[in-house]
Amino acid sequence: MSLREAAVSRTFIQGMPKAELHIHIEGSLEPELMFEIAGRNGVSLRYASVEEARRAYDFSDLQSFLDLYYEGMQVLLNERDFYDLTWAYLQRASAQNVRHAEIFFDPQAHTDRGVPFETVITGIRRALEDGEQQLGISSELIMCFLRHLSAEAAMETLHSSLPFWKWIVAVGLDSSEVGHPPEDFKAVFDEARKHGLLTVAHAGEEGPPEYIWQALDDLKVARIDHGVRCVEDPKLVERLREEQIPLTVCPLSNVKLRVFDSIQDHDLKRMLDLGLCVTVNSDDPAYFGGYIDENFEAAREGLGLSRDDIYRLVKNSFQASFLSAAKKQRLLRELDDYFASRLTGRLR
Ligand code: HPA
Ligand code: ZN
Repeated sequence: MSLREAAVSRTFIQGMPKAELHIHIEGSLEPELMFEIAGRNGVSLRYASVEEARRAYDFSDLQSFLDLYYEGMQVLLNERDFYDLTWAYLQRASAQNVRHAEIFFDPQAHTDRGVPFETVITGIRRALEDGEQQLGISSELIMCFLRHLSAEAAMETLHSSLPFWKWIVAVGLDSSEVGHPPEDFKAVFDEARKHGLLTVAHAGEEGPPEYIWQALDDLKVARIDHGVRCVEDPKLVERLREEQIPLTVCPLSNVKLRVFDSIQDHDLKRMLDLGLCVTVNSDDPAYFGGYIDENFEAAREGLGLSRDDIYRLVKNSFQASFLSAAKKQRLLRELDDYFASRLTGRLR
């Protein structure tokens, strides 16, 4: 095997230091843990077994996934459940050498079931602190508003989260996209920015390029989550390229939710070649068949990504993160050392 081929092997991807910027913590709930938590909380599940749950994860679009996603997370009731959920993700991420994670959570999906906001965020936060100390993973939390609910409900959630803003770096927008344009949430995002929170939004996953324009112009987002439909609008591509707005792309998610027919049809490589600031992420790994490495591996294999493509994707993820300039520099140096050592054979 040539050095070039060896440089993009599965082990090369696994050992690469990386950042994950698009992961819904509730979407990392593996069926095994769902059953364990359901058992101790006395919640009944519609699945007879872990295998049956996995077999049900066969989606036709975003909504068909969201229906099971909201159902699955109903087992989460106590602080310990949110801790265990987050800790399990961090252990998986650590095994794949994720050095920094910016994690979404959906408070309304819990508070609407009677679980207090404080229970949710305290459980998640305690695990993140342990992740930093025991696994060396730094992290940030992004609070998402459910766009199928009203802008007023989002504003109430923003205000009720005030005591915890010290633990939240940004707000985001997720759930059913089509029919729920970003512009509807302008006032909430204005309010969040007024208080020093950054903003991101899911846009252009199933929704049209117009939603990406709105996320940029109305919500003043620092990044677009997904954004793959931008390629339909050359003016938008030009804007995203010029301003190097990061796009947190999730290849396996897009195939599972039928945004693309297959991984070979995914526009990731095309977007990179257009000069866009693209990153690779797992979205909802327990439901879509893989964590960040499996996403890199699927894209590498399906799209023939080169070593340089992979380097750019990872470099983009550090640069697009909400880390300080000093921490970005440290991780970028680590990345450069990793690539250089693997090429010269200095290490291993
Ligand atoms: N899109 C929108 N909302 C979501 C997703 C997604 O991929 N995952 C969890 N909530
Ligand atoms: Zn998402």
